[in-house]
Amino acid sequence: MGGAQGWVSCFLFLMKNKFADLLPGRVSTEPEDLVCYGFDASGLEAAPSAVAWPHSLEDVVEIMNFARSNRIPVIPRGAGTGMTGGSVPDRSSVVVSMERMNRVLGIDRDNMTVLVEPGVINGHLQRELERFRLFYPPDPASMNFCTIGGNVAENAGGPRALKYGVTRDYVLGLEAVLPDGSVIKTGVKTAKGVVGYDLTRLLTGSEGTLAVITKILLRVLPMPEEVITLMALFKDLEQSGNAVTAILAYGIIPRTLEFMDGEAVRAVENFSPVGLPTDVEAILLIELDGDPVVIRKEAERISSICSHHQGEIIMAEDEEARQKIWEARRAISPALYHLKPAKINEDIVVPRTKIPSMLKKLRELSEESGIMIVCFGHAGDGNIHVNIMADKENKPEYEKALGLVKEVFRMTLDLGGTISGEHGVGLTKKDYIGMEISPVEMDLMKKIKNVFDPLNILNPGKIFP
Ligand code: MLT
Ligand code: ZN
Repeated sequence: MGGAQGWVSCFLFLMKNKFADLLPGRVSTEPEDLVCYGFDASGLEAAPSAVAWPHSLEDVVEIMNFARSNRIPVIPRGAGTGMTGGSVPDRSSVVVSMERMNRVLGIDRDNMTVLVEPGVINGHLQRELERFRLFYPPDPASMNFCTIGGNVAENAGGPRALKYGVTRDYVLGLEAVLPDGSVIKTGVKTAKGVVGYDLTRLLTGSEGTLAVITKILLRVLPMPEEVITLMALFKDLEQSGNAVTAILAYGIIPRTLEFMDGEAVRAVENFSPVGLPTDVEAILLIELDGDPVVIRKEAERISSICSHHQGEIIMAEDEEARQKIWEARRAISPALYHLKPAKINEDIVVPRTKIPSMLKKLRELSEESGIMIVCFGHAGDGNIHVNIMADKENKPEYEKALGLVKEVFRMTLDLGGTISGEHGVGLTKKDYIGMEISPVEMDLMKKIKNVFDPLNILNPGKIFP
């Protein structure tokens, strides 16, 4: 038997026998499980050799010890909603799904913290906290499916990031298992803490490449008193971008300032209609929260700014109307996948004042290339989801679309932006990170990876080209 082939057989033998014996009932090598745990929302897929579902810290330690002794790559996974292939294997490996470690371990109302296991679903946590009049702001579009562990690994954002920041702004401390099987506890339980390097921040957003997170202590906030939801409809794309800049320049920070272009609106109305007007070129979805008197005044000011930019304002009448609008917003990505299953979705960020020029450049790029580009996203943050609507079956078109990705990144960086605001690097962006990160910084990052994981067994092949 040849070297590589022999190694694969030996690997599969180890998985089916020794690894399965290690955690009875918590490991599978059944083909249907391997298929189900081999993809994420990036559209990439590659089946692992085994899937493990740890129930406890001790299970994770066992898995890491076994993986280290046998040099088996481990891929931590939340709910598989990531958009850059972070939980998709790129070689024979074990996917470690954290979904069964899904308990909310304690809500401390007085200290405004919550301790959770990584498999807790974001939306479930939000609802649990509501019962105590508490609020956890990060709200990725997949909040009803994605896990807090995945959110921490990817440093997830969401519409409310404009006012409240992203996941890392809420992570106080972590418990995690290192690739050598040792357990670390990072961070503090207190509002402040500056002892030593900030390992909590280092692990947050490390895309599962440095440690497997087993517990998360989050900071939470009091529930805002009232929320107002507005939609501003525009017949002109650039005017919507100008309105975004004007609202923020006026000094109002809404909790969301979301943007969808006309194509995104039409796609979502065709996919799961909620009654959004389809004869528009852009919609802004603006939400304010806080003191009722203050936010009513802000809503009036926003209405007049939008009117000044030829926008028409509609206010959501009640909670049902609000929920419908948000359902539509969260359905944009699925609606676009429905149209073009191989669409390329980027999440670039430009300084918010550059939004109008970025939107103009993207429109020009679409016209020149003949490939539809649909844009939506978190306009208040300057974070635009650029969806290049190419067909994989049409090879020349797909090749051209891949070329456009590089062009979009170049335009973004020229405007002082970054190539990823919330989806991370994973597999899909690793060939591009050299456009943004200098060789010196890249080398430093690789050395950090090597300190944590000298055998390169934790989510190998991700982030670095
Ligand atoms: C969103 O804002 O809807 C998510 O980041 C997902 C996406 O970009 O498609
Ligand atoms: Zn987003």
